[in-house]
Amino acid sequence: MLEPCTMLIFGATGNLASHKLLPAIYHIEAAERLHPDSRILGFGRRAWSDEDWRGQVRALLAERLSTKLDESVLTRLLARLHFVEGDLEQPDSYRHLVERLHGNVGLSGNLLFYLAVAPSHYAPIVEQLTAHGLTAQDHGWSRLVVEKPFGFDLESANILDQSLRRSFSEDQIYRIDHYLGKSTVQNILVFRFANLLLEPLWNRNYIDHVQISHAESQGIEERAGFYDGVGAMRDMIQSHLLQMLTLVAMEPPPNLDAEALRDEKVKVLRSIRPIPREAVHAQAFRAQYAPGQVGATKLGGYRDEPGVRQNSTTETYAALKLYIDNWRWRNVPFYLRTGKRLGRTNSLIAIRFKHPPQQLFQSTAIERLKPNWILLNIQPNECMRLEIQVKQPGLEMLAQTERLDASSCTLPPEHIDAYEALILDVIAGDHTHFLRYDEVNWAWRVVDPILKLWATERDFIPTYPAGSWGPSEANRLFDRDDQDWRNGLD
Ligand code: BG6
Repeated sequence: MLEPCTMLIFGATGNLASHKLLPAIYHIEAAERLHPDSRILGFGRRAWSDEDWRGQVRALLAERLSTKLDESVLTRLLARLHFVEGDLEQPDSYRHLVERLHGNVGLSGNLLFYLAVAPSHYAPIVEQLTAHGLTAQDHGWSRLVVEKPFGFDLESANILDQSLRRSFSEDQIYRIDHYLGKSTVQNILVFRFANLLLEPLWNRNYIDHVQISHAESQGIEERAGFYDGVGAMRDMIQSHLLQMLTLVAMEPPPNLDAEALRDEKVKVLRSIRPIPREAVHAQAFRAQYAPGQVGATKLGGYRDEPGVRQNSTTETYAALKLYIDNWRWRNVPFYLRTGKRLGRTNSLIAIRFKHPPQQLFQSTAIERLKPNWILLNIQPNECMRLEIQVKQPGLEMLAQTERLDASSCTLPPEHIDAYEALILDVIAGDHTHFLRYDEVNWAWRVVDPILKLWATERDFIPTYPAGSWGPSEANRLFDRDDQDWRNGLD
């Protein structure tokens, strides 16, 4: 059983808390992983009592989990909830918070501050926490959880980090990239390092290229306030996709300790060949969804979304080609791609092998062998697939692709989200699946030159119809004509 703690959620009524955190905490409660003395304090501007918040959370969970909601779990969870009315910018609100923390008998002195608010609030909140003695660790531990985007570019990330580090030491800070909490993403490590047969092949001698692709069929929904001006490169590639790249490309760490793992991930990021300004257009591509149609349903364009500026050139699609200049990967392209309002929601890591060195079957009916692929489907279905060539039954020497699937491919998608595991890790004090600041910093260095150039080109952005697979111009990133995007397992 984990230690008891008091978890304070800043932004308790916001999008992240409602969509991710509270459902995750419900699942943790259902799994009986919380200490009986753990409590959750929501902090927000609404003039709510504990009972009001409990009512809100009940309604929210009923809507999100519907038939899966278990009344006895819910009752246990609601009993842990308290609400503190307050304004993030007002020192008085923090005084009030301290009174609640000290006044409520039985609240644990282990404090977990979860900043589920816009990053612009991080520094002021942290200053107030320090000013009110909440970061001192006098009566237990004090830990800070911050969400991506960590900064807006390299410079702002550095400034933000310095301001957090004035109050919290690195080992008190948990920078979340929720992809690291997904079991399918964690599975990349097991797949690579628990299967010896892969290791001799996992390098530039055998691998033609790697694709990491995250596609979403939905648009930006009600998130214009956050998304417009941020865009796909910052929202997905700088964080989630680069993290997946590090796991695919890293060397085996000496052990799975947080530091050992993160050292290896940083080495990958440091080895990524910097993109000079004049190469940005050859290595990166951006676009925005325009109106489109899926079946009979008409879909609006990005600029039709509520809250988006009419002349916005924010990218909702970004593709990027990277090279990792080390012994294992030199000259193997890594293609990263993400987009909103694409054909289907799917995340896939696709590894394509080279052709055999000898076209042994050239003089027979096998004209052209298809390459081998390893496909690691991240979501919605967890699946590991190996595509190999075998002879078709019959008299001719014809090859066909056979698929070897891990047994998990037939299981329905897992609905437990990544946040459950990550919240439990913070309470356990385990940093393995969180970002160390140097990782964030090196990831910004990868995308910064692109963002800087794009920022000067704000008059025009290519478009793609909503519901399509993005603009064909993005194919110009490929090194050769026989390379193409894989959109899913098929
Ligand atoms: C978030 C991005 O970090 O990840 C969203 O801000 C994106 O824009 C989401 O939709 C994707 O996460 P998941 O877990 O739904 O794949």
